[in-house]
Amino acid sequence: APMRVLVLGASLRGDSLNARLAALVARLVRDEAGAEVDHAHMDEFSMPLYNGDAEIAEGVPPGALALRDRLAACDALVISSPEYNASLPGGLKNAIDWVSRVRPQPFKDKQALLVSASPSMVGGNRGLWALRIPLEHLGARVYPDMFSLAKAHEGFTADGDLAESGLHERLVESVTSFLRLVEADTRYVCLRRR
Ligand code: FNR
Repeated sequence: APMRVLVLGASLRGDSLNARLAALVARLVRDEAGAEVDHAHMDEFSMPLYNGDAEIAEGVPPGALALRDRLAACDALVISSPEYNASLPGGLKNAIDWVSRVRPQPFKDKQALLVSASPSMVGGNRGLWALRIPLEHLGARVYPDMFSLAKAHEGFTADGDLAESGLHERLVESVTSFLRLVEADTRYVCLRRR
């Protein structure tokens, strides 16, 4: 079966720069690597703030279970996340917290590539370093290379490519080298399970 990748735009905003970056990454995953893509937007997974009492009374909410299902159906995960106040957005952290309550724990051994887009000069890179912490804690294999698009409000062409060709090439390189690792890892896991 072909590799399957969940590409999640982690902003709730309709006109999100990260949704645009996620759409570009989804296209690269499909065209450059021939993998299947499940392209998701954070507003598909609405859920209340994590509350331990609510979890005991009602269990993990449907929005978090839906995200878990989409995650479990994929060999790898790409998150395009905004940076809020030099960290990850609360909504994304909340979703990770809820999903982490499911067993088997869905992030364990999941290969993940982190990218970000921001109108600022740092491109949201500090948010990605913050996002690594819960993901790595949960056993996700977060790819060492991360991609952050600075001045993202002027960073895209009308076709949805990156306006600066050097940067575009670097994104292609990040995505393809990540997918090569995922493919090798998937093959290895298949061999071991035989
Ligand atoms: C921001 N923004 C922002 N940008 C950044 O580069 N570093 C930061 O620390 C912050 N902090 C921040 C806090 C809050 C509460 C908001 C609402 C915004 C700006 C942010 O990058 C910008 O709104 C992006 O457009 C958000 O991503 P989406 O929604 O376009 O994907």
